[in-house]
Amino acid sequence: MKLTGKTAVVTGAARGIGREIALRLAQEGAAVVVIDVRDASETIAELQKQGFEAMALAVDITDFSAVERAVRAITDWKGTIDILVNNAGIIARGSILELTSEQWLKVMDVNVNGTFYWCKAVLPLMVAAQFGKIVNVTSIAGKMGDITAAVVYGTSKGAINTLTRSLARQMAEFGINVNAVAPHAIDTDMSADWSDEKRKTVIESIPLKRMGTAREVADAVLFLASDESSFITGETLNVNGGYLMD
Ligand SMILES: NC(=O)c1ccc[n+]([C@@H]2O[C@H](COP(=O)([O-])OP(=O)(O)OC[C@H]3O[C@@H](n4cnc5c(N)ncnc54)[C@H](O)[C@@H]3O)[C@@H](O)[C@H]2O)c1
Repeated sequence: MKLTGKTAVVTGAARGIGREIALRLAQEGAAVVVIDVRDASETIAELQKQGFEAMALAVDITDFSAVERAVRAITDWKGTIDILVNNAGIIARGSILELTSEQWLKVMDVNVNGTFYWCKAVLPLMVAAQFGKIVNVTSIAGKMGDITAAVVYGTSKGAINTLTRSLARQMAEFGINVNAVAPHAIDTDMSADWSDEKRKTVIESIPLKRMGTAREVADAVLFLASDESSFITGETLNVNGGYLMD
């Protein structure tokens, strides 16, 4: 067990990649807090069925005071937060010619501001403990630019990559590692609206010739949340079947 005695917060864990991350960290002994704006009862039921220590909090991560309240509730429960996984995110599709300023602001608010709010609220606890692991879930689009998503999606993920590096530099002296994972083509609700043709084209372009699973992203997050990655900070790890090698 790699995370015995640790408390982990996973945002956007009601479904998809976030749910798998919550399960994976719990399997390694962490007490897990499931954060989502959506009903998270399925994730909690799964965690409890397997006998893991877990709680869910309904939080819209774009509301900083709600994030601060959640952090207080978690410290009342477990005393501190050792691991923060900023996974919640949304996407927009289509050309910039159709993209509205409301869509732009919404995606930036959830993906960038939400990530910043959680880091801002949790880091004082990690500094006090002289220990912490932050793992941000970005996207291949943050490195390459958007392929099929609207330009705001890759822009928001690029901002998270830069935030990851900047925080890694600032927080290193306090024993805090800040890293990211950059997935591509993972089978979840976010990629469920792809046409069969698009799915086929995407799979053909990936050296491993398949979509990835949420579990495979969760395994990469577990690595970055554990002591096995203790000399890694500021890294954005590809989880993409070899599509982008950088
Ligand atoms: N699926 C992919 O192929 C893929 C590829 C690259 C990156 N990602 C990234 O992985 C992460 C998870 O994606 P997924 O595929 O599991 O998507 P998903 O849509 O299945 O899950 C995202 C979760 O975030 C939650 N969420 C959204 N807005 C929120 C808010 N304001 N406050 C709290 N929770 C909120 C949703 O309710 C949902 O449960 C996202 O950051 C996404 O950008 C996914």
